[in-house]
Amino acid sequence: MDFKVAVIPGDYIGPEIVEQAQKVLDHVGKKFGHSFNYVEVDMGGVSIDKHGVPLTDEALETAKSSDAVLMGSIGGRVGVDSWYQLPPHLRPEAGLLAIRKGLGLYANLRPAYLYKELNSACPLKESVAEAGFDMIIVRELTGGLYFGERKTEEIDGVMTAIDTLKYTEDEIRRIAIKGFEIAMKRRKHVISVDKANVLDSSRLWRKIVEEVAKDYPEVTLEHMLVDNCAMQLVKDPAQFDVVITENMFGDILSDEASMITGSIGMLSSASLGAGKFGLYEPSHGSAPDIAGQNKANPIATILSAAMMLRYSFDLDKEADAIEAAVQKVLEDNIRTVDIMSEGMQLVGCKEMGDCICDRI
Ligand code: IPM
Ligand code: MG
Repeated sequence: MDFKVAVIPGDYIGPEIVEQAQKVLDHVGKKFGHSFNYVEVDMGGVSIDKHGVPLTDEALETAKSSDAVLMGSIGGRVGVDSWYQLPPHLRPEAGLLAIRKGLGLYANLRPAYLYKELNSACPLKESVAEAGFDMIIVRELTGGLYFGERKTEEIDGVMTAIDTLKYTEDEIRRIAIKGFEIAMKRRKHVISVDKANVLDSSRLWRKIVEEVAKDYPEVTLEHMLVDNCAMQLVKDPAQFDVVITENMFGDILSDEASMITGSIGMLSSASLGAGKFGLYEPSHGSAPDIAGQNKANPIATILSAAMMLRYSFDLDKEADAIEAAVQKVLEDNIRTVDIMSEGMQLVGCKEMGDCICDRI
């Protein structure tokens, strides 16, 4: 089959890692008889430099008219890159928020998995690392504090900043359904995370999640307060299968979950909407310190491309082939610098891409 993929290389290591993911996709295409036609889209700092804004209307249209979007990483260093002297709505991150909203990508899937081969990178107690963990955080992505009304103004002579946390029952219901659907394909255990002891939005969240749960009698539902969840993630990560949570909590908890794998360079993510369309990107950032040095780990982006095959194109066999090749590379002791340990073979970004192609 033929697929049109919008590619957003983005900033710093973005172009290097995306190039490797495209190479792997083309390899899979050749082997399984598909062709991927790429159209490049500017977003983030690179778009600011070229067009003065982090995402142009044309760029959004190009993304919309494709079958899926594959992204590297955007943004840079506050205080160093001139992009951060611009007002907030013109900075690189605003492009990411605009594309999420513009494409209706309300469900952000962030798997956090501890590879047996990388156990020693886990910063937690040995007994916790040995038990392993495999969870997926399903983060609401187009509501809550990120998109609520905000302003900064002087009230009675005092500078006051206001951000608004708003959720409608429909927004909660659709993300809850996504979470339960995913749980049905996994270990059938949902932990819904909120702050229902304080926030109205969380109390509505809990009510709607419980309603949705009635349609999934095979799935066990637990509620967990977000502060407790932050603790449980480092105490006993093996208890988590599917976590569903609102935008801001999901932003924070997904960073924590990725940190305890010890290998953020390995973690993929998907942002999905109502249909098959999705945007796929690594969970890590643009790593300005190692950009352009062939040092970045392309695996998170390559695994994001695998997620694209699975979720947007229904190419499960092909996605399996990529994931198995990544597993094989680890078994063969091949490592980029971020996951390097004694006795392993150190390779660069490009070579890692080649090694994965060789194993498909
Ligand atoms: C993420 C990032 C973004 C977010 C930033 C860059 C706006 O932290 O994807 O988690 O907060 O959603
Ligand atoms: Mg984040």
